[in-house]
Amino acid sequence: MKHVVERIERLEGTLKVPGDKSISHRALILGAAARGRQVIDGLSDAADVASSVAALRAMGCFVESMPDGRTLVLANSLVPDYEIDAGNSGTTARLVAGLAAARAHRCRIDGDASLRRRPMARIAEPLARMGARVVLANGGTLPATIEGGALHGIRYQTPVPSAQVKSAVLIAGLFADGETTVVEATPTRDHTEIMLDAMGANLVRSDGAVTVRGGSRIEGMHVVVPGDFSSAAFFMVAALLVPKSRVHLPFTGVNPRRTGLLRVLESMGATVSVDAVHDGAADPTGDVSAAFSAELRGITIDDPATVASIIDEIPILAVAATQADGQTVIRGAGELRHKESDRIASLVSNLRALGARVEELDDGLVIDGPARLRGAAVSSFGDHRIAMAMAIAGLVADGRTEIDDAGVVDISYPRFFADLRTLTR
Ligand code: S3P
Repeated sequence: MKHVVERIERLEGTLKVPGDKSISHRALILGAAARGRQVIDGLSDAADVASSVAALRAMGCFVESMPDGRTLVLANSLVPDYEIDAGNSGTTARLVAGLAAARAHRCRIDGDASLRRRPMARIAEPLARMGARVVLANGGTLPATIEGGALHGIRYQTPVPSAQVKSAVLIAGLFADGETTVVEATPTRDHTEIMLDAMGANLVRSDGAVTVRGGSRIEGMHVVVPGDFSSAAFFMVAALLVPKSRVHLPFTGVNPRRTGLLRVLESMGATVSVDAVHDGAADPTGDVSAAFSAELRGITIDDPATVASIIDEIPILAVAATQADGQTVIRGAGELRHKESDRIASLVSNLRALGARVEELDDGLVIDGPARLRGAAVSSFGDHRIAMAMAIAGLVADGRTEIDDAGVVDISYPRFFADLRTLTR
């Protein structure tokens, strides 16, 4: 599907973005690791999350949406040998691998062409050290076969900042003998730790490390999923860039390890705020607002913790940087090359096509602004966040911006274009 975007006059309104994708995956997968029922309110309708639902069903779990819109997860009888199609979803492949490692049965995990290019040795290595047999394709990629059971705890220092690796090891650790500790040099999103704690895991967190004691079961709970900050980010930046705009995004996840973009945009001179914080969700939740900001300034971002806290927002931040005064430098973000597309290359190619001044670094980007963008044909590169970032760029570009394969937004946000229209009407 091609999608055409044109310059708009203003963006205004209130929008509840769909449930957080990261928290939705965890609510499902930890539900499958629990005793009793996991009841989920506000599960994301993203295609990636549907991949986790399908994976758990393939493992023999019961996952159903109920008439009241909630989702119920029950760890049912076990299926002996099973195959999992993780589709485009790295979180499904990596977190489910942690669960599969705890079972003696043979599990095969595969995914689409993009997921087959992404690194999996980062989970195979610690799971093998815990006692699972993990075989990957040459090159350390999917398909993977995992035969597990009889795991023992390990102390593991993650070689790259990755919440998916941390989570896979912690999930396997729930079923391992003794203690499993994950040490991270750079803090990454901690939704797994927050949910495990709320589900009664024997979990200890300290500076830079988290330890789970195996053998004690976690209990199903009622999970309330806040709106996805990473989805809200597209509308926030759109409001900053389009004159006279203001958007209000209530009940959005504002976990500090996810919301580095708020702090970065504030330092760039943007009007963004978190108005209220709600109870009810285990993860921090608030009402986010953003308004047109005429005087954005470029910024340098190279601190690893900041990079980790904006990792999924760098595509839309790069669009904001094209409209900021001066230079924006993003370094230490080499992980972007291992996402749904090589996001550094995707951004350089698309932003240049739109007339921005962008330099490619091995581990980041240099963007000189402000640039007058002109509509052009751009590619999603099969990557949902690239498609959405280009749609926002198109709102401030002259003429028509044509995004190819824009249907890929379904991966995280099926209603993205419809929601964008309600704010621009
Ligand atoms: C995610 C972790 C991040 C992020 C991805 C979702 C998660 O990936 O980019 O979109 O839900 O744990 P890494 O763990 O590879 O950094």
